[in-house]
Amino acid sequence: MSDSSVNTDFFVVKALEDGVNVIGLTRGNDTKFHHSEKLDKGEVMIAQFTDHTSAVKVRGKAVIQTSHGELENS
Ligand code: TRP
Repeated sequence: MSDSSVNTDFFVVKALEDGVNVIGLTRGNDTKFHHSEKLDKGEVMIAQFTDHTSAVKVRGKAVIQTSHGELENS
C-alpha cells in the first residue's frame, strides 16, 4: 500500500516508567511482531504508520498521542 494518508500519520509515545515496549505489527494478511523498541522513563518515540506497520502495541506506563487524541496507558 502506498496511500500517503496512511503513511504520513505519526504517533508519539512517551514512557512514564522504565522498560516500556513499543511493538510494531506487520501490515497485510499476517499480523506479526516485526520490531520491539524499549523506552526508559522520559524517553520519547515518534513514529509513523508505514507500508510495513499497520498496528502498534504499547506495553507499560506511557502517554500516547495520535491523530485520534491522547491517552495514558497504566
Ligand atoms: N521499519 C519500520 C517501518 O518502516 C519502522 C517503524 C515505523 C516502526 N513505524 C514503527 C517500528 C512503529 C515499530 C513501531 O514500518
